[in-house]
Amino acid sequence: MTEDFINKKDIYFPSYLGSNDNLINLLNRATKILCDWFSKADKNGPLPFDESFKCIMPAEDGNSEEDLFSEIEALLKNSFNPVHPGSLAHLDPPPLIFSILGDLIAAGLNNNLLAYELSPSVTLLEESLCKWFAKKIGFNDFSGGIAASGGTLSNLNALIAARNNAGLGTNPNSVLLVSEDAHSSFVKCIRVMGLDTTNLVRIKTDNKGRMDISDLIKSLDKCSIENKKIFAIVATLGTTVRGAIDPIKEISEICKQRNIWLHIDGSIGGIFAISSIPIEGLNNISQANSITINPQKIIGITKTSSLLLVSNMSILEKTFNTGLPYISSKENIINRGEIGVQGSRPAEVIKLWLGLRFLGLNGIENILKSSIKRKDFFIKNISKNKFDIYSGPLHIVSFLPKKLEPKDSDAWTKTKVNELINNKFMLSRPKFKGKYFLRVVMGNYNTKESHIEELLRLLDT
Ligand SMILES: Cc1ncc(COP(=O)(O)O)c(C=O)c1O
Repeated sequence: MTEDFINKKDIYFPSYLGSNDNLINLLNRATKILCDWFSKADKNGPLPFDESFKCIMPAEDGNSEEDLFSEIEALLKNSFNPVHPGSLAHLDPPPLIFSILGDLIAAGLNNNLLAYELSPSVTLLEESLCKWFAKKIGFNDFSGGIAASGGTLSNLNALIAARNNAGLGTNPNSVLLVSEDAHSSFVKCIRVMGLDTTNLVRIKTDNKGRMDISDLIKSLDKCSIENKKIFAIVATLGTTVRGAIDPIKEISEICKQRNIWLHIDGSIGGIFAISSIPIEGLNNISQANSITINPQKIIGITKTSSLLLVSNMSILEKTFNTGLPYISSKENIINRGEIGVQGSRPAEVIKLWLGLRFLGLNGIENILKSSIKRKDFFIKNISKNKFDIYSGPLHIVSFLPKKLEPKDSDAWTKTKVNELINNKFMLSRPKFKGKYFLRVVMGNYNTKESHIEELLRLLDT
């Protein structure tokens, strides 16, 4: 190559020769900035956003390193900080340190999970890790899975496979049954699948937020009278607002009797199935055809990290295979862009693998147990005279002052969320059953009992 093709500073890409000193310096500097941001979280609070924050767009010439590092610092200074102990609003826990490392390695590798030839070791790693999870939850030798960028996409992969398996293709009469407390991603899935809300049948929940079996049976009978074709029933293992678990055993028996695909949305609670923690209602999940597990939501695998596990891998192959004409294939190895809706995909599995290898089963269990302990401590100490409390066996609690009218719940939760953020606690305000609630998600490993006591004191005022 002539000199003309080589940039004088040689800084655009890693060098294939020499020691890459410049990149090492940049990484060291970025690491220092990131770690300073972590350690200043206590001072800045969970959501230190300054309204004057400016988004600076690319210019004619590239900017200097100095400019870029000061822009990175401004970006961090104005970001949600998941490591702050008051970050309790959502399913976004602090990142595991080995997962941060995994993201860095995946970015540098820049391999593509589309195909084996673009990611040989990582393809095998993803396949093995999915199989490991599938076996852990009790699936047999035909099982496996596919990673995807988030729980929504894992659910979508499952439902497309279920519809294909039922031979319903583009049938406009096909329907999906979910509980009224199931996640909003199912509305999106239905739309993406060319259907609409009339194809999404909502089953009532009982007073614990679990799918009501008698309403499920009634709806199934109604569907059959109306000649609607059911391609799947979704059981939620951990609802978004209160962490309830649908009665999986009963639902799986109904699915078996009627030959209906059972998908479990375990985005929140699925990971508990690989631990020995006794969780009420978490049983029989191996009876499902597919299950979403989303380790980004509770154990701190960095986003995004979600798996769809299936009891029979051949259904994913039959559903998504196109032949991928511009890619070579190797006998007995699946090109992983051919078993889900995503084509090109980063090597996200590295941060999951490193995170799990670092924690081991005991570490995973320790994190999960601690989240339940925090939830129990919160519930034990919150005033039962003042608040209506909605929770389940997992680590999520929604609550509201007793006898508050729906119209007043909006103003009360807004005021409270603002008051709390000024005191460095971030809670969310989901709309649920026509009212706004405050919700606390106890998945933050940095939150100690003393923080929860302080939060309860603020809520009581
Ligand atoms: C129960 C449940 N399912 C699915 C999802 C969607 O996951 P994601 O945001 O990773 O797409 C969520 C998100 O919170 C959820 O709570």
